Amino acid sequence: MKIPVTEDLVLDTFNEGDAADIHIGIDDPMIFENTLNVPSPYTLQHAEDWIKFSIEQNSKSVYPEHLCFRLKGKAIGGIGMIKTDKVGYTHQVEIGYWIVETERGKGYTPAAIKAYCDYIFSHFNYVKICATVYDENTSSQKAIIKAGFAEEAFLKMHIKKNNTYKDCKIYTLYKPEI
Ligand SMILES: CC(C)(COP(=O)(O)OP(=O)(O)OC[C@H]1O[C@@H](n2cnc3c(N)ncnc32)[C@H](O)[C@@H]1OP(=O)(O)O)[C@@H](O)C(=O)NCCC(=O)NCCS
Repeated sequence: MKIPVTEDLVLDTFNEGDAADIHIGIDDPMIFENTLNVPSPYTLQHAEDWIKFSIEQNSKSVYPEHLCFRLKGKAIGGIGMIKTDKVGYTHQVEIGYWIVETERGKGYTPAAIKAYCDYIFSHFNYVKICATVYDENTSSQKAIIKAGFAEEAFLKMHIKKNNTYKDCKIYTLYKPEI
């Protein structure tokens, strides 16, 4: 399954051959600093384990949830859902995303987020999509706004990462017909 994004970029499932590109792409201090669960250093083994996990997860559903940004065949980034089964929250889902340093600033991520959110609203039962962005991560704030999200909340000390409390901005997108 491939979701077209631009002429050259598609959202695609990960495969074992993507491990080296994922390793190089994610082993980046900017990704470590701006995400919650990415280890540093991010080794080739981490990439291989992640791909194995995503293949297993994706195989459980007709509609895969963990997708890679594939530019002319090469894996250059990723996007996925962080779901919750907390009572009262199952109508909403969080998304997370990254792109390799060499492809930043070209508008690929906003385009990929838009395509991914259309896909979520078309194939899953979510009516609200959220992105939690650290206050200092202006690159991500610009990208998510370009994807059509709006800033909805500012939450002080919302996340604790490496013994530091992070203020966060919450960006949201609602299913159009809701
Ligand atoms: C956030 C991120 C996904 C944005 O992706 P992108 O494809 O570069 O998005 P855009 O092309 O829309 O660029 C967004 C902004 O990034 C900034 N930017 C441009 N080139 C950049 C570079 N080489 N490195 C960092 N930021 C850059 C610019 O401010 C740009 O805004 P502008 O186009 O209005 O000038 C990417 O920077 C990234 O992977 N960051 C690390 C992981 C991360 O923060 N994930 C999101 C967690 S909430």
